[in-house]
Amino acid sequence: MSDVLASQASLEETLKGEILRMYQEVAENPDAEFHFYHGRTAAELFDYPPEELEAAPEAAVASFAGVGNPHLRADIREGETVLDLGSGAGLDAILASRKVGPAGKVIGVDLNPAMCEKARANMTGSETPLECHAGRMEDLPLPSDSVDVVISNGVINLSFRKRRVMEEMFRVLKPGGRVSITDIVSGKQLSQSIVNDPKLWAS
Ligand SMILES: C[S@@+](CC[C@H](N)C(=O)[O-])C[C@H]1O[C@@H](n2cnc3c(N)ncnc32)[C@H](O)[C@@H]1O
Repeated sequence: MSDVLASQASLEETLKGEILRMYQEVAENPDAEFHFYHGRTAAELFDYPPEELEAAPEAAVASFAGVGNPHLRADIREGETVLDLGSGAGLDAILASRKVGPAGKVIGVDLNPAMCEKARANMTGSETPLECHAGRMEDLPLPSDSVDVVISNGVINLSFRKRRVMEEMFRVLKPGGRVSITDIVSGKQLSQSIVNDPKLWAS
């Protein structure tokens, strides 16, 4: 392996550790201070309807860590299969499940198995099947052509391999499927000191 690839692999591993730590902390300790909006404050800021937040499990709302609202453009319909990339504590997956209803299905994929456990616990009692797979969005544990809609909220910016994430997303989408992503992009080249800081990348 070349020096560049080796240092990239080591940075990716460090970043993974920081991501696992950061979002698990939001899920386990939502009242703590973070340098990004989260929980109900963030969801209200991003125009999640108050009645949907009221009806959602409190723990999922409190641990919400998205950067926008992918539901505004997703147009999720009854009976559809929805994939939520980086489903976290599950708020976006749960809101999607209310839209697809019992005839549909919501599939979360998260790097952190502990987040999948939280999402499942937050979905207890729901009539809509919620699967959560521990896995990476760069290697989705799903068959090709199996999903109607992909949503994602603040996750793709965390990846070292964004092109690969796009390829995987389009592999699992059925022909004519839809994508609704909210994420963070920078209009200018970030300095190397920012790019090489796992804490800044992970948030
Ligand atoms: C910004 S939160 C997602 C917010 C979530 N949609 C919600 O409703 O609260 C980021 C999540 O993405 C997961 N994640 C980060 N990198 C990932 C990757 N490469 N593959 C899958 N999940 C990833 C993290 O473990 C974390 O749970």
